[in-house]
Amino acid sequence: MQQNIRKVAIIGTGLVGSSAAYSILNQGICDELLMIDINTERAVGECLDLSHCIDFTNSRTKVHTATYQELGDVDIVVITAGPPPKPGQTRLDTIGIGAKIMADIIPQIMASGFNGIFLIASNPVDIMTYHVWKLSGLPRNQVIGTGTSLDSSRLKTYLSEILDVDPRSIYGYTMGEHGDSQFAAWSHVTVGGKPLLQIIEEQKDKLGHIDLDQMVEDVKKVGFEILKRKGTTYYGIGNAIAFITKSILNDDHKIIALSCVLDGEYGETDLCTGVPAIITRQGLKEVVELHLTEAEQEKFAHSTNVLRDYMASIGYEKKALELV
Ligand code: 2OP
Repeated sequence: MQQNIRKVAIIGTGLVGSSAAYSILNQGICDELLMIDINTERAVGECLDLSHCIDFTNSRTKVHTATYQELGDVDIVVITAGPPPKPGQTRLDTIGIGAKIMADIIPQIMASGFNGIFLIASNPVDIMTYHVWKLSGLPRNQVIGTGTSLDSSRLKTYLSEILDVDPRSIYGYTMGEHGDSQFAAWSHVTVGGKPLLQIIEEQKDKLGHIDLDQMVEDVKKVGFEILKRKGTTYYGIGNAIAFITKSILNDDHKIIALSCVLDGEYGETDLCTGVPAIITRQGLKEVVELHLTEAEQEKFAHSTNVLRDYMASIGYEKKALELV
């Protein structure tokens, strides 16, 4: 009987990669988990430690180190390799190191015959996702990044604390760069299906004090508040990776704010940035085009401009805006 083994590989077994692995194992998301790191001893140590979780879970996931040559039949390759920003740096400032890492590992992965889905978490994630798409030559549906999935979760967490509602009953996204130029599409945030802005309008006495602009600033900054205190973030992004991986393998057709290659959506082409996207077993099925307000569309264009400026620094020349 042909067994349909769900195989996931994680490149980078640092705190983000190992947290993602721990979450994937605990949820029994795949049958086999392959771990690769330039620090092979670290990868061995993580696999040994993770293998001792299995007896306490509901699934017997095989976890082991691997080489790039062994990735040919893997369903999803998660890439977390790369350094966190140094104090005073933004995520965009790590672009040089990140680009070199991808240029080194993607050709090795493609040489294995890999034809699955890349899920990029390495920062600056929008540009790293684009870089992997270009280096791999795979169609855009097979190369996605964690994008603003974590930021959207952070936004919903803030809202859930103010509204005393489960964050899973709140729908909405931050969009654009996973970084300082992202914005919240407030016009499309709903609580149990009711527009948030309408709720605030109706309950001005109780909710009129909410400063939505400050909340977006808090979402942008909280990753650095955590980094300041514990060196980097890993549980939030680790669970985001596991959630997206599970959604792909289960063919859920969920809508998640991911970094996707845009091909005309939101008036943009040839770059990756955070947008709501339908995700399936084949990766990206469709970018969901929200009807943004004029102000939101301007913020989106600003964010993509910021990304294009940084993309140029690793050789992706900023195309002259098509004059209409
Ligand atoms: C974060 O915002 C790691 O960039 C990631 O936590």
